[in-house]
Amino acid sequence: MRKRIVAGNWKMNTSQSEGIELVKSVIEKSIAVPKAIELVIIPPFTHLNEIVKYAKGTSLNVGAQNCAEWSKGAYTGEVSASMIKSVGATYVIIGHSERREYFKEDNRLLFRKIKEALSNDLIPIYCCGEKLDERESGKYFDVVEQQISESLFELSHEQMQKIVIAYEPVWAIGTGKNATSQQAQDMHAFIRATIAKKFSKEIADNVSILYGGSCKPSNAEEIFARPDVDGGLIGGASLVADDFIAIAQSF
Ligand code: 13P
Repeated sequence: MRKRIVAGNWKMNTSQSEGIELVKSVIEKSIAVPKAIELVIIPPFTHLNEIVKYAKGTSLNVGAQNCAEWSKGAYTGEVSASMIKSVGATYVIIGHSERREYFKEDNRLLFRKIKEALSNDLIPIYCCGEKLDERESGKYFDVVEQQISESLFELSHEQMQKIVIAYEPVWAIGTGKNATSQQAQDMHAFIRATIAKKFSKEIADNVSILYGGSCKPSNAEEIFARPDVDGGLIGGASLVADDFIAIAQSF
């Protein structure tokens, strides 16, 4: 059975002390979440080391929001996958729409980042999703298919088994307007079918596909109830411990 995951992407929010308070609160409240649900906290780079220490011995996993496409060297300001691994984080988000939009990251660059993450034993959470005009013009399946094929299709079967996918329609991120559970289900099923066609049904059946975009306690239950939705990648609501935990309890 595939893993069910609820991950909190804090984006560029919280000072270190605020982050520590937040993670302490999440840990305290996480006893209310069934063990079968994997919780992941994804703070800014500067807090990673400290937050990993708090998460040690708890059920919480920790991830980074990005990694470099190179393993080391003269790349001022970049953070490598091996550095992330060395502080004890286990996940890394690759290809968030904000990285695609503001930092012009494209599918081929993201493929290189995914390989870098995998070779350092990090689990990539690969993000895909269409923009509003692509939704409205009916091109959304094509856009997501291209994001999946250009960034994932050259992975080996073994590598593909380690990938987590997050479907985050850009028009739903931070807007308060979530995808309907039907829209999420349709896209998740499409992504799974795309993976099955290229790799195998078994691999596709085992890949966790998370939904992201204005996911909150009031809509998580309905979205998570869909058969191809295996959890959520949560932005704004992950900054409030009670909301994040309530979302994780929505399965
Ligand atoms: P919001 O939950 O704030 O819409 O953000 C979703 C997201 O981008 C998570 O990566």
